[in-house]
Amino acid sequence: MKKGVFITLEGLDGAGKTTQIKRLAAKAQALGIETVTTREPGGTALGDAIRKILLDPAYKEMLPLTEALLYAASRAQHVEEVIRPALRAGKLVICDRFLDSSLAYQAFGGGLAAEYVRYINEEAVKSCKPDRTFVLDLDPQEGQARKGQMKADRMEQKSLDFHKRVREGFLQIAQKEPERMVVLDAMESPEAIFNAIWTNVAPLLSILR
Ligand SMILES: Nc1ncnc2c1ncn2[C@@H]1O[C@H](COP(=O)(O)OP(=O)(O)OP(=O)(O)O)[C@@H](O)[C@H]1O
Ligand SMILES: [Mg+2]
Repeated sequence: MKKGVFITLEGLDGAGKTTQIKRLAAKAQALGIETVTTREPGGTALGDAIRKILLDPAYKEMLPLTEALLYAASRAQHVEEVIRPALRAGKLVICDRFLDSSLAYQAFGGGLAAEYVRYINEEAVKSCKPDRTFVLDLDPQEGQARKGQMKADRMEQKSLDFHKRVREGFLQIAQKEPERMVVLDAMESPEAIFNAIWTNVAPLLSILR
């Protein structure tokens, strides 16, 4: 039985996910809440191996379907090995990207049917749904600018149009699940964004303290 709290952060590259996750984990830990931070793709030894394949610019020919299956494979391992055990143990789990990224990137961006992406993830996720998801909404060009000279990985090298569809995808997904998903303007300052996240999650975390 799940006793912990599961929070995910979503959004384009450079939107500020890692920045906010670090702050949230630090604040929760300071309050004595046992906290696990993790990320997708990856989060396990096998998942990290899959991540390398997914992000390697050498595989330019990778089909959206192949991509979607690899993300789901990484997720299956991640949920079973890391997320579910931590939630069972009553911990706070903060995950950098999760199922919503598969929907936004492989369905909205890559053109696969959203129902199919959901279907191949069903067994991977099982009942492990996030309690709260924050979407950091950002113009893709701004995200790219923030990342500066860093070498773009295979996903980042996709076209501006692709990333615009992904952004729109996140917004549409969020609209359908307003009780779980909160959209935040990633152009706000890191402090303002963190305050909004904290105000929202504090009541959820009260059960862990
Ligand atoms: N609210 C913000 N306003 C301006 N710059 C920000 C903001 N949040 C983060 N940044 C900066 O933007 C860059 C990207 O932030 P961060 O690494 O947190 O994004 P990310 O969503 O984790 O990206 P990625 O998907 O590539 O991991 C960093 O240099 C960070 O300092
Ligand atoms: Mg990051």
